[in-house]
Parts: sequence; C-alpha cells; structure tokens
Amino acid sequence: MRALTVTPGIAGSGTLRDVPTPERSPGEVLVRTLAVGICGTDREILEGHYGASIAGHEHLILGHESLGEVIDAPEHGELKPGDLVVGIVRHPDPVPCEACAQGEWDMCRNGRYTEHGIKELDGFCAEYFRMDPHFLVKLDPGLRDAGVLTEPASVVAKAWDHIERIGQRTSSWRPRKVLVTGAGPIGLLASLLARQRNCELHVYDRDQGDAKRRLVSELCGQYHNDSLEAACALGADVIIECTGAAVVMAHVIGNNAPGAIVCLAGLSSGSHRIPYDFARLNRDLVLENDVIFGSVNANRRHYQLAAAALASADRQWLLRLISRRVPLADWHTALEHHPDDIKVVIDFLK
Ligand code: BGC
Repeated sequence: MRALTVTPGIAGSGTLRDVPTPERSPGEVLVRTLAVGICGTDREILEGHYGASIAGHEHLILGHESLGEVIDAPEHGELKPGDLVVGIVRHPDPVPCEACAQGEWDMCRNGRYTEHGIKELDGFCAEYFRMDPHFLVKLDPGLRDAGVLTEPASVVAKAWDHIERIGQRTSSWRPRKVLVTGAGPIGLLASLLARQRNCELHVYDRDQGDAKRRLVSELCGQYHNDSLEAACALGADVIIECTGAAVVMAHVIGNNAPGAIVCLAGLSSGSHRIPYDFARLNRDLVLENDVIFGSVNANRRHYQLAAAALASADRQWLLRLISRRVPLADWHTALEHHPDDIKVVIDFLK
C-alpha cells in the first residue's frame, strides 16, 4: 500500500512509498483510510524540527488527523465493517504514570507517551491502518465528508473541558463572552464550541480575506482584524489563544478581564524573544485571579465530545472549513499556502 513517510529530523524527507499492508489481526480493527488532515505539526515534522520514529525504524508514517472506514473488526465488538472511525492520536506511556493509568494520556506526566504520526508510532497517512478498538472512535455516518475534523475538534473539546473545570472555582461562573485569537481550524472549531455553549463570540485574526470572516459571522460571532487591543478591551471572560504567536500571547495574557481564563492552545515554533514586564504580569494575574494555562492533545472522552459537537454542527459550515482536498499522489501540494486555506486534507478517494 502507499504511505506518506518521513525520516524525523531530516528536512524534506517526506516521500510517498510502498509499505506492507497491515494484515487482519485478532482483536484488532483494520481500517481503510478515507482522509487525513494536514496541520502545523505535520509541517514541523516534514521540516525536520519535530517527530520521532519507532525505535529502530528509519521512517515514520505521517498523519494524525484521520478518518477511515472499518474493513474488519473483532466479532461481538462495538465496531462493524462499514463504520466511520477516527484513530486516537496519543497512547499511554508504558509505565504508566498516574494520568495515563486513568485513561488521561493527554495529561501524561512523564512524557513517555507515544503519538500516531508524531512520536514513535506510525501515523494514518497510509491506505490502511490497524488499531486496537479502544483507540478508535466511532462517528455519526453523516460525518463522512467532515469527520476528518474530529482530531482538531478533540483538541478544542479538551481545552473547553479544562476551561469549564477551572471555571468551577467560582460557584456562579459560566462562560459568557469568549475571545478566540487565530481563525485557523483550531480557532474556528473552538469558536463553534463557544457558540454551542451560547457564548458571545469574538474572533481576532490578521487575515483580511472573506472566508474566515464569513465563517465567524455564520456562527453569529464578530470578526476583528483591525486591532488586537480593541478585541482584548471587550472584556472576554474566556480567551482561547490559537496562534502561538509571541506578540498575540503577550497581549492576551497581559490584557484580559479580571478573573479571565486564558487557554493557550496554539503551538509556537522556533524561538521568538520579546521584552516583557513580568512584574506587571504578576500584578495582573494575582490581583485579578486570572488563570493562564496550556492545553494539548485529547483523551477518548474528548474525542467523543468532539464527535458529538461535529454531529450537531451545521454540515455546510463544517465542510467550508475544509478548503482543499488533494489526492495522496499530490500530497506535497497540501503544504502550499493558498490565500483562503483553512484546513487542507489528503483525500484517499481522489
Ligand atoms: C496534535 C496533538 C499532539 C500535539 C503534540 C498536535 O498537532 O493535534 O494531538 O499532542 O500536536 O505532538
């Protein structure tokens, strides 16, 4: 079968190659891949900055945002041939740490977790993959076109789960006004979840084009691309930072409403130093009970929340998040930056 592989640490090593097709194996599920989404992490791996292959293997099969169809599954299990599924990216560390032992591998304490297509586990950008059913999440059949958004949606479902847990520190808390910085797939999915919670939504992005603005306004949110200062001055009680850009982060952590919860969900790349007044930040945080926290990955429960959120979302809106679909043979074109790109997907049926 064809698979997109990379040699971690080596820039430009992405190659489409023939690899052995996984065979049916008792207790495991064989899945035919329908689509794989491409994100910033894949770019980082392809540029040689991130990722690790299985010990002793030169190549890593790329891809962690999956959508597939069950070909073969253990009898009497939940999954049946034809079911639409998504693979869970992270697996618990082998120790396991306290968090992994509870199925909360997204909170792994010792860093020895593995991740499909990223860290020491082959990914999903291959025509077939085989999985333990516990690491597959079944989707509503209506998500055949948009279900590839489940993994990024699971990341924001986890972010929202933690925002709400933190919010419980005050008995009267509920999220009312939300500011999302960055209108990429993560930001837009975080926005969808904000609206599903009936929050007033504001989205900041530098992009002047029409696509993102329209997607935000269809969620009845307000799109801000003029001034981050003005967006922060709106006094959101929840800020979800999805750009990973140093100046944006610096601004949102230092200019938020009293008691605000700021979730950093975007990942920065490289290094970017900026001068920062930590004494002022200290006063802001302490005197206003602000919270800044980071959120990454997702556990099985978050995937299920994501699958439910996507199933109840407007299908046409979701489909517009997928701005381009490219065939596997043209995988490298998925990495190009087109002006109105939001989520680019490798479509295995093309
Ligand atoms: C993935 C996460 C993963 C993280 C760090 C992100 O792109 O969506 O599942 O934990 O990268 O490897």
